[in-house]
Amino acid sequence: MIVDAHGRRFRNLRISLTAACNYACTYCVPNGKRLQAAVSELSAEEMGGAVALLIEAAGIEKLRITGGEPLLSPKFDALLPVVMALPLEDVSITTNGQLLPRKADLIIDSGVRRINISLDTLDANGFRAIARSGDLATVMHGIERMLEAGIRVKVNMVPMRTRNANQILPMLDYCFERGIELRFIELMKMGHLRAGNQYLQDFYGMDEILEAIGQRHEFTRTDAPWDSTAARFEVPDRGVFGIIANESEPFCSTCTRLRLSSDGWLYGCLSNARRHDLRPVLELPRPQALARLRQLLTRALGDKQSVSFRGEVTVMKFIGG
Ligand code: 5AD
Repeated sequence: MIVDAHGRRFRNLRISLTAACNYACTYCVPNGKRLQAAVSELSAEEMGGAVALLIEAAGIEKLRITGGEPLLSPKFDALLPVVMALPLEDVSITTNGQLLPRKADLIIDSGVRRINISLDTLDANGFRAIARSGDLATVMHGIERMLEAGIRVKVNMVPMRTRNANQILPMLDYCFERGIELRFIELMKMGHLRAGNQYLQDFYGMDEILEAIGQRHEFTRTDAPWDSTAARFEVPDRGVFGIIANESEPFCSTCTRLRLSSDGWLYGCLSNARRHDLRPVLELPRPQALARLRQLLTRALGDKQSVSFRGEVTVMKFIGG
């Protein structure tokens, strides 16, 4: 097993099925133009093969399917049963939910137990202002389908001062009523947010989030798994919520994540543009592939930050959250 000086190793793999997205969220793209697929994306077979190799070479235990928007990818239907058959503790999906009603049966039948859905507001106009596409009712319908099937749902919300900070309590109520764990993600200084005022204007930190919640609810902090990215809180008799506090409480020193982009690059850190080409490895016979992959993984692990997220040109949109 490849372990670094902080005792970190790769346990969680996130694969971006496609860089394409059917939204154009303000925090993700600057100009309102939707993202397109990468020029040369891995096929479903290549992705499945890559995951199998990474399980063996890195000791991956958990897999998350992301994008772009993963449900948009024609690969999704073929890849899901393939990864479900691999020796993994857990397979989950992160989606914006827009295609969830259409893909619900496939997901339910695959045996997936957990899904994360990105939803920043319950206000239809606010929704269009942030996502600049899509339809709120469709996402809510998709959420209901997942819940009815007994799939555990988490909702990701990025609170932004000028856009949806007033949605923190309504979103919390919506989630508590449905047994959904809501996770607030502090705005990250990625891509175009690295320069200009939008980040400073909109950043809404853990203290402010907790203050807003404290006006309505009593809560206590609860334990979270050591490599969890979220601080977890409990409101007695209502439920739990989390805050992914990249800025306020960085979690780099316990990060176990490895990312594979849709065009075959491995990233050891979301805050580092360094990447490692997996494609040539996929063409090698298995023993050589594993040996070469271990070299790449050692380098990728060395790309992690030791303390905190520094911000990078790398963009969530391409390599998943
Ligand atoms: N800061 C915080 N969260 C972000 N996401 C995408 N870009 C950013 C950013 N700059 C979120 C999405 C999704 C998750 C995968 O990452 O809203 O919920």
